Amino acid sequence: MISVVKSILPVDFTDFDRASIELRFLNLLMQLEQLMTQRIIPITSPNFIAGEVLDCPMDWTAVFGNSRPLALEIGCGTGHFILAQARKQPDINFLAIDIYNKGCLKTCAKIDEAGLQNVRVMRVEARWLMETGLRPESLAAVYINCPDPWPKKRHRRRRLVNRDFLESLAHYLLPDGDFFFSTDFDNYAEDVAEQIRNLPGYGNMLQSDWVHDLPGYPISKYMQRFLDKGQPIYFIHHQRDARVSRGKLPSSTAQRGFRVDWQKAENG
Ligand SMILES: C[S@@+](CC[C@H](N)C(=O)[O-])C[C@H]1O[C@@H](n2cnc3c(N)ncnc32)[C@H](O)[C@@H]1O
Repeated sequence: MISVVKSILPVDFTDFDRASIELRFLNLLMQLEQLMTQRIIPITSPNFIAGEVLDCPMDWTAVFGNSRPLALEIGCGTGHFILAQARKQPDINFLAIDIYNKGCLKTCAKIDEAGLQNVRVMRVEARWLMETGLRPESLAAVYINCPDPWPKKRHRRRRLVNRDFLESLAHYLLPDGDFFFSTDFDNYAEDVAEQIRNLPGYGNMLQSDWVHDLPGYPISKYMQRFLDKGQPIYFIHHQRDARVSRGKLPSSTAQRGFRVDWQKAENG
């Protein structure tokens, strides 16, 4: 394959040009192979909404058939948390999203089996959903539990929850809307606590930056894993401060696909 690519490159290309084009081509092949070997299982649940339908703010009242408050779980994994939270709060409509196909499938299975009417599951990237499928000031609550911690220092910029994300999230939360974040990783908790403390528009609902026990808050699968190993969970709970105007919406960084910025930067 590489020799075919080499043979069609113009003769005046330098060795450096050739090497760089070959590398990009190899990368492309690897990604294609990955796509072909990742088995995407179709999800037929009536509670699943295909991400492809999202091209403008959705009419969630029409989707749920009522105008109850809307809440969002980002990175629902296999659905343990959303199942418990949606059971506890039947008067809230929940969106549970993940980019992981099998996770969405398992979440749907739990919701279907429980017969819950107040959850819809989507396989969609968080920033894409916010910027494309939601109207500003539309979320009564947002939950993010044990997001990928990217523990290595050089990988930390890959973390989902950072200053840009929190600034953007403040636009989609209703005044007094809740933001819950949990992690097993102390550095992620420190980082989020510091960022959010310095952002106008959020108010801490706890007496400290975080607590290790949040009564009534359901335990997710990952939380349980860490708790079983004797590791503490860091819970952060802020509310959008209704007195602070939400300012200008930051320019869009979202992409429809599942490759996020850091992957593009690193893989070309
Ligand atoms: C470590 S798992 C935690 C799953 C679950 N919240 C729990 O606590 O058991 C993180 C999940 O977030 C999802 N995820 C990561 N980045 C995401 C993004 N940008 N948008 C939506 N989901 C994302 C991953 O696919 C994964 O399922």
